[in-house]
Amino acid sequence: MPERYRIQFPQADSQKLGQDEIFFTLIEDGKEKRLRFHDYNEIYKRPGLYEQLFYDRLRCNSPAKVADLLQRALNTVREPVTELRVIDLGAGNGMMGEVLKREGVARLVGADIIPEARDAAYRDRSTVYDDYYVHDFANLDNDVHDELREWHFDCLTCVAALGFGDIPPRAFFNAIKLIRTDGWLAFNIKETFLDHTEHTGFSRLVRELIFSKYLDIYHLERYRHRLSMEGTQLFYYALVGRLTASIPEGFLEQYGIED
Ligand SMILES: C[S@@+](CC[C@H](N)C(=O)[O-])C[C@H]1O[C@@H](n2cnc3c(N)ncnc32)[C@H](O)[C@@H]1O
Repeated sequence: MPERYRIQFPQADSQKLGQDEIFFTLIEDGKEKRLRFHDYNEIYKRPGLYEQLFYDRLRCNSPAKVADLLQRALNTVREPVTELRVIDLGAGNGMMGEVLKREGVARLVGADIIPEARDAAYRDRSTVYDDYYVHDFANLDNDVHDELREWHFDCLTCVAALGFGDIPPRAFFNAIKLIRTDGWLAFNIKETFLDHTEHTGFSRLVRELIFSKYLDIYHLERYRHRLSMEGTQLFYYALVGRLTASIPEGFLEQYGIED
């Protein structure tokens, strides 16, 4: 039986806070500790806390949803998931990796910016990833970049990790550039990122990609990502697309997209 934690949500309505400012209280050894949802290092250090918070209590459903749409896209073109060579960006402690592994992908490499994510993935899901890179993908060293290319990835997954002070456009773009020209992208984004009134670099990158000649969209589905602390439904889009050509290096600059 995994350890259960005493978690308290704040009295005040947290809906007005930015998604990266939302916090909860963890009661440990009689002491109260306030943690933000984005204090991933503190959360991953405690086995099962991430799962209890986001998956049990807030009913996150995104790895299953994104993996299901990816599987359906592969079915459409009659390609087996078992040949897929996947890099899972913002992999965290391996929730998406676990689903992909179960589906039998050929290679699965995790990537995250904090070592606590890799440590937690190896601790809690030791057989899921073939390798796990801890690097800032916005600034990859040449050596690491060359090493990553040797995996010959044909699929990038990225779940619950884009925007909001998580993965910036440059890091996502650099990861896309590691994928074969006819490879797959499978990720989710907050629904407002598709709204043309939203001008963050990330939402513009996604919109430009969707309408570009470099990506064929197979699935774009609005679904319930999880609940908020107030119990309201948070909707995201899950997107699965296939690259059709190499995206030019200057794509971000061309559209004035900054991190
Ligand atoms: C909400 S978690 C999602 C984890 C996992 N994909 C899941 O669905 O449960 C977001 C993850 O993105 C990672 N992250 C944030 N910024 C990043 C960056 N610039 N590069 C890589 N990973 C990043 C965080 O460390 C965290 O592990």
